[in-house]
This record gives sequence, C-alpha cells and structure tokens, in this order.
Amino acid sequence: MPLPAFTPRILSGIQPSGGLTLGNYLGAVSRFVEMQESGQYETLYCMVDLHAITVWQDPANLRHNTRELAAFYLAAGIDPAKSALFAQSHVPEHAQLGWVLNCVARMGWMGRMTQWKDKAGKNSENASLGLFAYPALMAADILIYHATHVPVGEDQKQHLELTRDIAAKFNNDYGVEFFPITEPVIEGTATRVMSLRDGSKKMSKSDPSDMARINMSDDADTIAKKIRKAKTDPEPLPETVEGLEGRAEARNLVNIYAALAGVGPENVIAEFGGQQFGAFKPRLAELAVEEIAPITGEMHRLMADEAELDRILAQGAAHARGIAAPILEDTFRIVGMLPRQ
Ligand code: AMP
Ligand code: TRP
Repeated sequence: MPLPAFTPRILSGIQPSGGLTLGNYLGAVSRFVEMQESGQYETLYCMVDLHAITVWQDPANLRHNTRELAAFYLAAGIDPAKSALFAQSHVPEHAQLGWVLNCVARMGWMGRMTQWKDKAGKNSENASLGLFAYPALMAADILIYHATHVPVGEDQKQHLELTRDIAAKFNNDYGVEFFPITEPVIEGTATRVMSLRDGSKKMSKSDPSDMARINMSDDADTIAKKIRKAKTDPEPLPETVEGLEGRAEARNLVNIYAALAGVGPENVIAEFGGQQFGAFKPRLAELAVEEIAPITGEMHRLMADEAELDRILAQGAAHARGIAAPILEDTFRIVGMLPRQ
C-alpha cells in the first residue's frame, strides 16, 4: 500500500555542544535558510539539547551554548515568522516518541552506527546508554513531525537511513501507514567541509588544532590567517573541475569559495583556474570575512538580549507542540496505550 501523502515538512537539528564552525554554516544552517525561503515546505529547526547530554555537558555551558546556537540560526537567516525555532527539550513529545522508537530499533542496528563506534571508541562499556540510543531519539525528532525531508551534512546519512528503517519497521509491525519514509537532503557543494590542515578529515569543532577550522566566532584577522596558512599543494589551481581529483586540500578551498559565493565549483575554476594559491587565498579570505562577519555581529547583538531570545524559542516550541502532540497521541493509540481521559 502506498503511504498517504504527507505535508512537505522539514525538520533538522544541531547539538548545542559549543563551537560553531564554517562546516555547520555551509553544510547545515545556510541550507536550512534556503529551504525556509523556498516556500515549498513547512520548516522546523531545533537545538538538540537532549542529544548534547549523551556526553557530559557542564550545565551553565549547555545553557549558554543553546542560546548561542539559537542566535546563530537567527543571525544566519532563520526567520521565526517562517520557521519554528525551538529547544528540543521544550517539546517533550520528542523524548516520549523516542522511548517508543527505542522499543522498535534493534540493538544490532544501533551497534553498527559509525558515529557510535567513533564516539564510544574502545571504552564503550563506559559510554552512556543515551549515546547508544542517540539515533533513535534523532528518528523521533524527525518522525514526531512526520517530516518528509531532512537537510544535513554527509556525516548524518547513516542516521537518516536508520530513521527510515525505524519508520518502516514501525509501520510494518503495527500494520499501519503512519510514519513517512523521510528523504535525506544532502546537497550542495559543502555537504562535507574539510579540515584546513588535512583535506581527508572533516572540519570539526573537536579537532585539536584550532587552525583546522574557521569558527563562526573568529574575527577577520583570524579568518584571514587561517586561510593563508591552510594546507595546499605546490601546483596552481587546475583549469578544470576534474583537475581537482586527488587534490583534497585544493578541492576543499574551491568548494568553500563556491559555497560562500553561492556558485558552483566550475565557476570558481573558471575564474581562478591556473592561478597560484597566493592569489586565490586572499580572495577567499575576503569573501569568508564578508559572509561571516555580519553573522557574528548579529549573534552578539542577539545574545545580549536573552529575554527576547527565550521569547522567540517559547513561541517556536508552542508551534512545534501543536504539530507533535496529535502525532504522539496517534502513536500511543497505535501501539495500544489506553486513551487518556
Ligand atoms: P555537529 O556540529 O557535528 O553536530 O553538526 C551539526 C550539523 O552541521 C550537521 O547537519 C552536520 O552534518 C553539519 N556539519 C558539521 N560539520 C560539517 C562539515 N565539516 N561539513 C559539512 N557539514 C557539517
Ligand atoms: N545527529 C545530528 C548531528 O550530530 C543532530 C540531530 C539530532 C539531527 N536530531 C536531528 C539532525 C534530527 C537532523 C534531524 O548533527
């Protein structure tokens, strides 16, 4: 039986665990803004604070980082009049559906998640139970809204496949056509922004070297310095996009330029092909500063008025709950919980 038609709806989330990078901006939030502006979807975006505590978070830092992430979303262009923006914990239906999905997902599925293996490492006996269950809560974040599309970076692909498996198993076990089989949206030139020091590694807030990443909080001089010192090879930029093959660092800088400029890598090559990095890097630095500085400035302004930020988040949570509550109620009914009087 085909699934019923679902309202085109987008949900995505980022962990408020501190340290926002250019990877988060280009790979995630700038795409979230595009999808908000496309007018084709209802859009919901959250700070996944319940996910953050799967590893230790100092409570004061967590509060700060959650507001900072909210400010980042807003500064980057998420408009509370167009998208629901909220803290995951303010919509208790996420955790409630998460429990049900814990009972649908299989231990074996979770054990195969590469992010679990990376994060728990050899010390998995000592990892939290929440870290293991993390992807089932992520599935709940998505399915509690019957979201049809989820924009994320490349690294989240496996979690989204698991979300589809969980939805399909639920539908199959209970003989219903209830949860949509969500489409991942992993598109654009910046689905994987790489480290500035090693083109084979993702740009990450957890990289021990601060020179490997551009932080959304970096000032203009720092951004320029990091780009100037970014690892490259001795060759000039190639004349064709194919010429980037096997040149991970060169490709990364070209992709970053393309994503910041909102063009394709072929346009960047058309402009800079044959030129030395000595000429390209200052142009990239200029463009990066031009794009990032206004966002950083706006984040500071927003962070200065916590009451206003909290008001926006309360409004976002109320909107989100309006969608989530009836879906949770239906879920409970389907699995056989007594109706609440
Ligand atoms: P994280 O900060 O790792 O929790 O990631 C939050 C969001 O940003 C997710 O959608 C990631 O896929 C995306 N993201 C993080 N780092 C990168 C990167 N280096 N390149 C592209 N997307 C990224
Ligand atoms: N796991 C995602 C990350 O680490 C964060 C996340 C949690 C998420 N729930 C989500 C992303 C729902 C998209 C949709 O980046």
